[in-house]
Amino acid sequence: MPERHPKEIMMETSKMQYGDEPRQSSRAGLIIRQKEPTNLEMPFDQVDSYLTPTELFYIRSHFQAPRIDLADYQLKINGAVRDPLALSYRDLREMPSETRTATLECAGNGRVFLVPQVRGAQWELGAVGNAEWTGVPLRALLERAGLEDDAREVVLEGADRGTPTEEPIPPGPISYARSVPREKAVQPEVLVAYQMNGRDLGRDHGYPVRAIVPGHYGMASVKWLTRIQAVREPFQGYWQTSDYGYWESLDGKPVRRALGEMKLKSAIARPRVYETLLPNRSYTVFGAAWAGETEVTEIAVSTDGGQTWAEADFLDPAGRHAWRRWKFDWLTPKTPGQYTLLARAKDASGGVQPDEHDPNYGTYVINHPLPIEVLVEDPVRP
Ligand code: MTE
Repeated sequence: MPERHPKEIMMETSKMQYGDEPRQSSRAGLIIRQKEPTNLEMPFDQVDSYLTPTELFYIRSHFQAPRIDLADYQLKINGAVRDPLALSYRDLREMPSETRTATLECAGNGRVFLVPQVRGAQWELGAVGNAEWTGVPLRALLERAGLEDDAREVVLEGADRGTPTEEPIPPGPISYARSVPREKAVQPEVLVAYQMNGRDLGRDHGYPVRAIVPGHYGMASVKWLTRIQAVREPFQGYWQTSDYGYWESLDGKPVRRALGEMKLKSAIARPRVYETLLPNRSYTVFGAAWAGETEVTEIAVSTDGGQTWAEADFLDPAGRHAWRRWKFDWLTPKTPGQYTLLARAKDASGGVQPDEHDPNYGTYVINHPLPIEVLVEDPVRP
């Protein structure tokens, strides 16, 4: 499946005649989950192209997006390094760059499916997207600064600041910061990015510079990046412990860990919840599947609430860090009624999506097959 640039898709949309079924409607806009700070999700039934058009890409911000003047912009690289440095935007743009495709998913995506309802933004399916990111590999910057051998983590800090609203509330305003383990930070795919889908980053997506940590939940991809600090001790910041943490059992005792790698997941984009379908017709179920550091290798769909499963077909090639769209041709039942659709992925290391949400992840990592209920009905006759 050749990749198409979002601009090409937009042009195609604008050429459509009134009344045409929009194949890739970039006019659909986003759904508000929180007005201020800006938290918007993509209507997931709009997934069509391999690359999510930038204007449909979800936005997840903890504080108001800072205004950064390019002329004043500086990226500091310091901490456990031999030669701390500060780079201007121009310095960065003049360094050799790379472009990589990566799926970002917010760790709370799908939260609205949890029963009973939990606190936090009520994301449906659309706090995920797949984009092409261009920038300088983080490891090139760490090499230039001379990363010390005993540095264990790399803390990425953004220019946005504020006071979190969830307990325990820190004593004053703090800036958004997350650490990446050293082993991941030096992988070639981790970028200090300035472009998304071939254009300079928009303000909500981290203008002028953000981190992209492919394979990790979105919280690791720090926007408005202004400081990279190598540290010798595990970083225990707010978004590492209080938020974006989970419980792991250590010799039977629960210990708090920071979320990292994305878990294997698939999601149904079409049909939508409670969509009405005609009986005994062919309907193409469509969705996407993604994993963290491994590849998605199989996808199965159930149309009877998980009693039976059938294999679906991938539309995109296997690849680490990027989603694969898939489809399944379903002959809808002759008998009208309510039917529950599920999708379940397998990965290259033999992993399969769990049947249920793991409570150790609290309000995060919602990667069990999420039920899409549809109604099969004869058309209403006047
Ligand atoms: N970086 C900063 N500086 N501030 C933030 O609030 N949100 C994180 C991450 N980077 C955030 C941030 C979270 S939780 C996610 S899921 C992704 O950005 C979302 O990136 P996007 O808004 O470009 O989709």
